[in-house]
Amino acid sequence: MRKKLLLGNWKMNKLASEAKEFALASVPFAALAKKNNIEIGVAPTYLSLATVKEHASKDMIVAAQNVHFMDHGAYTGEVSIPMLKEFGIDWVIIGHSERRAYDNETNEKCHEKMKALFENNMVPVYCVGETLAEFDAGKTKEVVGKQVKEGLKDFTAEQVARLVVAYEPVWSIGTGKNASSEIAQDICSYIRSILKEMFGGVAEEIRILYGGSVKPVNVKEYLSCPDVDGALVGGASLKIESFEELLTNIL
Ligand code: PGA
Repeated sequence: MRKKLLLGNWKMNKLASEAKEFALASVPFAALAKKNNIEIGVAPTYLSLATVKEHASKDMIVAAQNVHFMDHGAYTGEVSIPMLKEFGIDWVIIGHSERRAYDNETNEKCHEKMKALFENNMVPVYCVGETLAEFDAGKTKEVVGKQVKEGLKDFTAEQVARLVVAYEPVWSIGTGKNASSEIAQDICSYIRSILKEMFGGVAEEIRILYGGSVKPVNVKEYLSCPDVDGALVGGASLKIESFEELLTNIL
């Protein structure tokens, strides 16, 4: 049985002081989530990771939004896995479409980062999804299939047992134009079928999230789909009231 997962991606939002306030206010929701066998978490900016980790409940997942695959070295502006681990951070979002678009994050780069994460027993949340032009051209499965195959090539079933995949159609992110739950189910089930081809039975244990304009009003619809195991939420995860509603609406 795959545990439902609600993960907030704060992107480049919130001062550390605001992140701390959120972390403190989220403590009761983490307990409520745990009681209902749901996992919740947030991905703050690097500068807020330590404060959120310190002030949120131990049951709240705290994820980084990116990481470098090298342990240390001459990589100006980067942060490494040991630096995250020192603060108890062991979840990292990889290949978010904004990083693919603005920071040249390719499937190969994502693969390198996930390899380093697996070697360190960490959990990647690997984001895949097609652009509007690709969607309109009917290429969703082709694009997503390539992202999954190239990003996850050569890993073992044991490694990917820890993986989380997030299907986020680029045209639905931050646009309010969310994919229907039928599309979300169709693509998430397609992703699971590729994972099955690549890794066998463990595909049934891998959690696949939907992301893109998920709000308290539509979260339940997505999570009712058999292959959608949770949501990666941007805008609607920023306000504590909205985050709470995302959770209470799926209880
Ligand atoms: P959104 O972002 O919920 O604001 O559309 C989702 C994401 O980018 O993960």
